[in-house]
Amino acid sequence: MRSIAVFSVKGGVGKSALAVNLAHAAATLSARRTLLWDLDTQGAATYTLRLAARGDLSARKGIAEGELAPLIQASDFPALDVLAADKSLRHLEKQLVEAEKARRLKKLIRAFDKDYDRVILDCPPGLTELADQVFRAVDLLVVPMLPSPLSERAYAQLLDHLAKHHKWSPTGTAPAILPVFTMVDRRKALHRDTIAAHPERLCIPYAAAIEAMATTRLPVLVKSPTAPAARALAALWTQVERVLTKLA
Ligand SMILES: Nc1ncnc2c1ncn2[C@@H]1O[C@H](COP(=O)(O)OP(=O)(O)OP(=O)(O)O)[C@@H](O)[C@H]1O
Ligand SMILES: [Mg+2]
Repeated sequence: MRSIAVFSVKGGVGKSALAVNLAHAAATLSARRTLLWDLDTQGAATYTLRLAARGDLSARKGIAEGELAPLIQASDFPALDVLAADKSLRHLEKQLVEAEKARRLKKLIRAFDKDYDRVILDCPPGLTELADQVFRAVDLLVVPMLPSPLSERAYAQLLDHLAKHHKWSPTGTAPAILPVFTMVDRRKALHRDTIAAHPERLCIPYAAAIEAMATTRLPVLVKSPTAPAARALAALWTQVERVLTKLA
């Protein structure tokens, strides 16, 4: 099993949209047994896959007690399950800090080893205690960012944080990091210039097909399989798999 977190310090950069599409691609394009774990109390990924939290259970309690199986739901797609977000996650930060169990999340993800090939986390934004737990737990961070100097700055801050607090180095310990430009609009000079400085990074276009997910509640590869955004998302998934294969 390999685990992937879609993470960024900044909010509103397309994390949840990527998490849903990557999870769907993992299950359908690569036939991986996939779990999408929605860790953001907003529940955008859960909602987009036409699911809702089970009212009788609490995700926060499941995390505290190591009892996550009852919280997992099947999606409309074969091989894709979802661990839904709910309101209890509002108090997750406090719980993680108080519990002083720095590797709680890592342990929980490891427990999925038997049942899943890919676990994909949709994270809330920010360098929080939850983020630190995610950094200790996953094999790969996919980091969406707008092509702008401020996003570059936030990305540099993330790398700095990883180096200082997680003994991370670009060639050394996990997690691997895959930065991705999102909401790309090549009509904008700022976007073109920022992208030109990083030609190795994949670009996800600013696309109506992605924006529409909030209303269609379907992954882009289902609703608009021939759209340029669908090709970009499939290419991103291929790159993710390539990075995962290279990990020891
Ligand atoms: N490539 C894209 N093109 C057009 N719209 C997009 C794209 N990616 C995301 N969006 C839209 O932008 C908004 C924010 O996206 P999303 O919720 O995925 O961001 P997020 O990083 O998960 O936000 P948050 O930090 O609040 O969790 C949504 O309305 C989404 O539909
Ligand atoms: Mg989100």
